[in-house]
Amino acid sequence: MNYNVSEKFKSLKPSAIREIFKSLGTPGAISFAAGNPNPSSFPVADMKRIADEIFENDPVTALQYGITEGYTPLRELVKARLKRVYGIGTDDDELIIVTGGQQGIELSCKVLCNEGDAVVCENPSFIGALNAFRSLGARLVSVELTDDGIDVDALESALKANPDAKLLYTIPTFQNPAGITTNLETRKKVLELAKKYDIIILEDNPYGDLRFSGEDVPTYKSLDTEGRVLYCGSFSKVLSSGMRIGFLCGGKELISKIVVAKQVEDVHTNVFFQMVCARYIEQCDLEGHIAEIRELYRRKAALMVGALEENMPKSVKFIRPDGGIFLWCSLPEGIDLGEFVKRAGDRLVFVVPGTAFAPDPDAPCRSFRLNYSMPTDEEIVKGIKILAEIAREMGAG
Ligand SMILES: Cc1ncc(COP(=O)(O)O)c(C=O)c1O
Repeated sequence: MNYNVSEKFKSLKPSAIREIFKSLGTPGAISFAAGNPNPSSFPVADMKRIADEIFENDPVTALQYGITEGYTPLRELVKARLKRVYGIGTDDDELIIVTGGQQGIELSCKVLCNEGDAVVCENPSFIGALNAFRSLGARLVSVELTDDGIDVDALESALKANPDAKLLYTIPTFQNPAGITTNLETRKKVLELAKKYDIIILEDNPYGDLRFSGEDVPTYKSLDTEGRVLYCGSFSKVLSSGMRIGFLCGGKELISKIVVAKQVEDVHTNVFFQMVCARYIEQCDLEGHIAEIRELYRRKAALMVGALEENMPKSVKFIRPDGGIFLWCSLPEGIDLGEFVKRAGDRLVFVVPGTAFAPDPDAPCRSFRLNYSMPTDEEIVKGIKILAEIAREMGAG
């Protein structure tokens, strides 16, 4: 049967990362390709106890339809935490629970952009967001990242050249995939540009809680005085990714439109897991739990950085992470990224080529992403040695 799928979906390719997962079953495979949290970060015993208690005391709420905005106790707890930890939330703001940050990103674009409108995004950027924008018929306009975050001059040129741009999508803290955190000065300039060119900033911050070195930088949302920032958060990296609980916080009017858009998609996020999440925040030590995850990732990141420093040819550059779960490496000129990734895969070490994260997948790229939250310590040491051998074989000095 020849299925005549829509034009929008004809051009969409499966996520390169999900494709790599298919090769991971081979014994001995080392994956630096995942974006998953370490399974030891799932508070299984607490969640089991909470789940039992829900089915004992409040099964109907868990099993009945809920309201689109989200389970009220969870919304209140998330609002309170956002205020306490990030200084986010004014009287003009509202918050909706969404089915993972992924849905929050997609709904934001759906509500704000017409087909063909430009969405400005960082290059590289989160593939799930890029594909969401593509699937909605948005035109991706990419702006390069510098060590300080998005390149402000390039952003202004992009906004001048694309007056139909409605949205800037940015991951300012522990960017996926580049690991970069946008500094405060840059954030202030970006906010000014957003005002000047009248665009909304979609601030995606699923890794913000995972800082293990350096100083916190205020979020765009906490610096925003006009309701120009829509903030997207998630419990995926601090409690459970399978739970699929994220949230969007923004101006009341905008959130009310997002509520309508969500009604068309999935009516509401899974009530049972919203209840589990709420009770976990109420009854357990979420901040202590996050501190443990940070410590685990600090150790794993240091191990990977140490292995890279010890083994990689000096011409292979990498960005030292201060948080999050990714490390971004760049090969020297003259080394073909596709061939490098292929040779690594042949030796059962899997990395994601930077082309997967490019708004323009045909643009030249010499970078690849390494994940350190999932592999064991032994795999980190062994896998980096293998990658270093391949880089040398291919001529990196
Ligand atoms: C930058 C970024 N945003 C959003 C998400 C979506 O997370 P979730 O839908 O699990 O909340 C991810 C997941 O890896 C991510 O890396």
